[in-house]
Amino acid sequence: MQTENQCSDKDITILAIESSCDETAAAVVRNGREVLSNMISSQIDLHTLYGGVVPEIASRKHTERINQVTGEALAAAGMTLQEMDAVAVTYGPGLVGALLVGVSFAKAVSFASGIPLIGVHHIEGHISANYIDNKELEPPFVCLVVSGGHSHLVRVRDYGEYEILGRTRDDAAGEAFDKVARAIGLGYPGGPKIDKVSKEGNPDAIPFPRAKVADSVYDFSFSGLKSAVLNYLNSCEMKGIRVCQADVAASFQKAVVDVLVEHSMQAVRECGSDKFAIAGGVASNTALRAALEKECAARGIAFYRPTPIMCTDNAAMIGAAAYYEYCRGVRHGYDLNAVPNLKLGDRVQGSPGLV
Ligand code: KG4
Ligand code: ZN
Repeated sequence: MQTENQCSDKDITILAIESSCDETAAAVVRNGREVLSNMISSQIDLHTLYGGVVPEIASRKHTERINQVTGEALAAAGMTLQEMDAVAVTYGPGLVGALLVGVSFAKAVSFASGIPLIGVHHIEGHISANYIDNKELEPPFVCLVVSGGHSHLVRVRDYGEYEILGRTRDDAAGEAFDKVARAIGLGYPGGPKIDKVSKEGNPDAIPFPRAKVADSVYDFSFSGLKSAVLNYLNSCEMKGIRVCQADVAASFQKAVVDVLVEHSMQAVRECGSDKFAIAGGVASNTALRAALEKECAARGIAFYRPTPIMCTDNAAMIGAAAYYEYCRGVRHGYDLNAVPNLKLGDRVQGSPGLV
């Protein structure tokens, strides 16, 4: 990897590829904020059959689809590969086999066309989705990243400069949504289904716990809440009490939202920030968005959120993050590898790539 400041005044157009989980996605993004195309081939129907993502199936489907999806992204943008300034790809965190498909493909595209390669951190992509939908947003700000694999409270000090304030100690927020949805018979993917059903339920019907982590004010823990829901369901069954699915969904969702909002507002206050953003699949939850909007407004904090399509996995967000990496002079070599447990802020060292 090479880094030196190489920001220029000319337009920078990036072909971005994302394959870290169950979406095969490619996009063309100009100057980090303008989406020229954004193609997503979702595998959700396939994985729904198994109640969750099956890694081997995800890798195989990525292999089958990535070439076509990338071609469609270039065609929809009305551009050719040779007009791209870089090809960017998610190289972690995620499912190793799924990541490898995107990384190998992007390396091949870079090698064959002579276009520089930029590896992007998936969470950095989620955070950067905010730059696409909120053109005026600039760091510093505090961002809550909540998805199926991650729950992080991040202080974005500058483009590409992150300080992790808190993270989950066990389940990610989206994972808790998915597991509880399965337990109450809603199926996969659980987040959007719980969101919908909750609108019919009473969020104060069942007093589920709001977990605190003893030695960290910002860390999250959702596995206790998930167990509390399972215990509630078991005790209802034993006592022959009919379970109201909508009340369980709404009460669970409120417990998650309360904790996310409380930690977020504390982080904003202690960082002295006047800007707060959300990102990741769970950031499209309507109750979470409404609660954060209300709390930010009450404190005079500007609240930024991506549109729902930009919250879930897509390649446009990878293209947005890659632009700022490009401007910092980041280029990766062909020894770039998939890193399934890549930490935010980690930089993989390798040989210098094309410049
Ligand atoms: O960011 P994402 O697409 O993939 C990961 O990087 O994990 O997030 C997917 C997660 C799933 O757990 C899904 O259930 C959750 O986001 N999700 C939601 C909603 N929409 C998606 N959770 C709560 N409410 C929603 N409306
Ligand atoms: Zn994601």
